[in-house]
Amino acid sequence: MSVDTVISATAPLTGPLTLIHAADTAPGWWRSAVIYQVYPRSFRDLNGDGIGDIAGITEELPHLADLDVDAVWLSPFYRSPQRDAGYDVSDYCDVDPIFGTLQDFDVMMAEAHRLGLRVIVDLVPNHCSDQHAAFQAALAAPAGSPERDMFIFRDGTGPEGHEPPNNWQSHFGGPAWTRVIAPDGQPDQWYLHLFDSSQPDFNWDNTAVHAEFERVLRFWLDRGVSGFRVDVAHALIKAPGLPAWGGRADGGSSDGFPGHEAPMFGQPGVHDIYRAWRRILAEYGPDRILCAEASVDLDRLAHWVRPDEMHQAFNFPYLHAGLDVHRLRGVITDSLTVLNGVGAPSTWVLSNHDVVRHASRFGYNGQGPRDGDGIGPADPQPDTELGRRRAAAASMFMLGLPGAAYLYQGEELGLPDGIDIPEHLRQDPTFARTGGERLGRDGCRVPLPWRAAERHLGFGSGQDPWLPLPPGFTELARDAQAASPSSHLSLYRNMLALRRELGLGSGSLAWAEDWCSGSSLAYLNGATLVVMNLNHEPLELPLGRLLLRSAEPGSGRFLASGETAWLRIDGGGAE
Ligand code: BGC
Repeated sequence: MSVDTVISATAPLTGPLTLIHAADTAPGWWRSAVIYQVYPRSFRDLNGDGIGDIAGITEELPHLADLDVDAVWLSPFYRSPQRDAGYDVSDYCDVDPIFGTLQDFDVMMAEAHRLGLRVIVDLVPNHCSDQHAAFQAALAAPAGSPERDMFIFRDGTGPEGHEPPNNWQSHFGGPAWTRVIAPDGQPDQWYLHLFDSSQPDFNWDNTAVHAEFERVLRFWLDRGVSGFRVDVAHALIKAPGLPAWGGRADGGSSDGFPGHEAPMFGQPGVHDIYRAWRRILAEYGPDRILCAEASVDLDRLAHWVRPDEMHQAFNFPYLHAGLDVHRLRGVITDSLTVLNGVGAPSTWVLSNHDVVRHASRFGYNGQGPRDGDGIGPADPQPDTELGRRRAAAASMFMLGLPGAAYLYQGEELGLPDGIDIPEHLRQDPTFARTGGERLGRDGCRVPLPWRAAERHLGFGSGQDPWLPLPPGFTELARDAQAASPSSHLSLYRNMLALRRELGLGSGSLAWAEDWCSGSSLAYLNGATLVVMNLNHEPLELPLGRLLLRSAEPGSGRFLASGETAWLRIDGGGAE
């Protein structure tokens, strides 16, 4: 909650300031925007089939407008067999019946625009579903045909081609190659799938693939979307010859083998693709954007957001820095420095549909779960209260930073991951492809609690939700929190309103050295001081007007462990 009291501490803010980033005066709504990720199957189920839908999004959009975000990003709602929760697309220009119809989409767009919200959609260009017409045609066509050339088919190695073409592994576990059976029943070629076997990779060396995706871009731009979040944007082009890879076989980082050097990622050919897309977006005016989901290091990431390429890229190094003060400072400094070098804004993100929610990740004192592996009942359990408290502090620290911020649905409620998910309900392909060894990402995808007193906590009034809502979600339901000025939701509302009022998204950053230590971090954004204390001991704040603190009731001029505060140090600030 906004406290707005003068801190009568003993010390004013003095000491060295290390300026990293000057205020951003360049035009572009996305440079400072707060973008809210909607995961449609878990947002709101209006038709009662247990799965969220587009009409449900339309219904609840006023809550997002009320939260004061600038835009929503929708994870895939396209036609899909749902083997990877919609990231396996069988028709890029239609809505899957479980989510509704194109008409529902148009209604949702109109409502979003009426509320002043922009809408970004997910584009999945690296792979499609094996049920996509183009892949079905490729299966029916012989080796060497134009149909097969839409994908990455290769002959096998070893006797009678029984071995895969190379040693690459799928991100979800197991080999990245699957062998097909020819129409005559004989074993045939293999196709590449960096993800599930139901997600064949497109061949981006083929201009027909480029033409198809340019059509898809225009289809959604014509329907009014403000841009695209580009799925695994770093994977489209593979190194010539598909060489074997000595690092972690799925291209992930390992000692001595940085993931960004893997032959399936970050190849130079991607830049021309994104330049061509940017030209298409520019035909629709200056406000349509591309945001890369790309696991590449910051130096390389900066190349992707040069003025004629993408507008933004997710800052995963920030997400992975967790609450490690040293890493956080390094990532923030490096991000702003390298991105300033190409004139691009940074983005900041703490949670999404692929990682354990930050309210759960931060509930561990030692080693928590691996980001995409989930938490099960047999694993060490997070401390829920600690996690939520630190999540509030981390979010307040992030939302004070200059640049754009991405929020994941439910983080404004302080939701933790779902843990007690029966195995037969788990749907992430990671779970099946690793024989249950890795639980996968279902825990962060549990449906949202809207209204505490309603059936299924207001997610839907019909069938059971596709994943169960944990009992602890009742007190976290949106309506329960909306009624309480000290709730996590109220904190988010206050943070987002103040962030806009103070112009923090387009502001500056200077480290306030005297309040930075091995376990605390402080920066000035304009005249707003953001201080996060992760020390076990309370930290005395400098003199100033306290605008907001992440834990209530606070302890006067001291910042408790796991707490963040925003202070105005020029005597001004929000009234
Ligand atoms: C998406 C995942 C998806 C994968 C394959 C990602 O990075 O965010 O949810 O499973 O791409 O499309």
